[in-house]
Amino acid sequence: MNLPSRRILLLLFSLGLILSSCSKKQETGIPVGQFASLTGPQATFGQSTDKGVQLALDEINGSGGVLGQPIRLITKDNQSKPGETSTAVRELITRDKVVALIGEVASGRSLEAAPIAQRSGIPMISPASTNEKVTETGDHIFRVCFIDPFQGTVCAKFAHKLGATKAAILTDVSKDYSLGLAKSFQEEFTKEGGIITGTQSYSGGDKDFSAQLTAIKSGNPQVVFLPAYYTEAPLIIRQARQLGITVPFVGGDGWDSTELVSVGGPSVEGCYFSNHFSNQSTDPQVVAFVNAYRKKYNEDPDAMVALGYDALLLLADAMKRAGTTDPAKVNAAIAATKDFPGVTGKITLDAHRNPNKPAVMLEVKNGRFTYVETIAP
Ligand code: PHE
Repeated sequence: MNLPSRRILLLLFSLGLILSSCSKKQETGIPVGQFASLTGPQATFGQSTDKGVQLALDEINGSGGVLGQPIRLITKDNQSKPGETSTAVRELITRDKVVALIGEVASGRSLEAAPIAQRSGIPMISPASTNEKVTETGDHIFRVCFIDPFQGTVCAKFAHKLGATKAAILTDVSKDYSLGLAKSFQEEFTKEGGIITGTQSYSGGDKDFSAQLTAIKSGNPQVVFLPAYYTEAPLIIRQARQLGITVPFVGGDGWDSTELVSVGGPSVEGCYFSNHFSNQSTDPQVVAFVNAYRKKYNEDPDAMVALGYDALLLLADAMKRAGTTDPAKVNAAIAATKDFPGVTGKITLDAHRNPNKPAVMLEVKNGRFTYVETIAP
């Protein structure tokens, strides 16, 4: 080997050493995995949660971390695509060796991740998935939000409060979330003497809803229950208005995105949806959180921000109580969570790993999500 190529080799070798010591340095801290839809059709879901998780991370690491160590958050984007979540979660567990997982917003994607976390013995906390089946996967799957049997009941009670005795339902058959919510709404609405004038369905990604809406119109409902995501809800409501359906639409947390208003415009005014949190709350803890969030991101937090924030803080609290980052012990500590002071309400996990928390009803008013009332479980 001549001298120049030896020099190059030496240079490459030292570069390698520098790089590997850099990456070692980055690898200190407690590895916690997050999987979220940071891009793709439901990007606002993942981006919001991530911002809330980041804010919590700043607070935790800024005040000395957990058990003397910072939390090292490793985030993977599933691009809102089916199938990507399982790949992401497997990587987080086997390659990044995370001790716990935060994810997902969409129930369908949490249901994809949950069996993997469960089999691997890694606790998973869903910030926002409300479908009942998510935590039924097993004793390692938790959530910090209420569940759809409650949310559907809240919406049905509210529809009655609006004076409606006749409701139509329009369901997204491609989503566990929508199917579960439609079912619980129907049960409660009819239990209280209401009549379902018709049930129609579509599939996520559809753009033309005129056939379903024409059928709904012919039943003359006084309210339409729409357990949709924000990706379709404003399109549906806009088309409904064009067809002359003037009654209010009522939906669930899946409507929560500024896109509901930017796409729906005047057609979504006077519609209502249930949610986990109102950023107009006057509770001092919520006010402090909203201000901290505004300072960091220069916008108002939605419910997923608040739930992501609560999820990571609850995990950090469980690690402190466990006194270790061993996943089995952390799992037991999460399960024992009692009266954790979340910004979305007090969190006590029941035997099914679900909290029992109130919901808020919001009205779309002058383009803003305006607080109407809190409905306790
Ligand atoms: N609850 C929805 C689901 O389970 C997700 C969601 C939560 C959407 C909160 C918006 C706000 O699929």
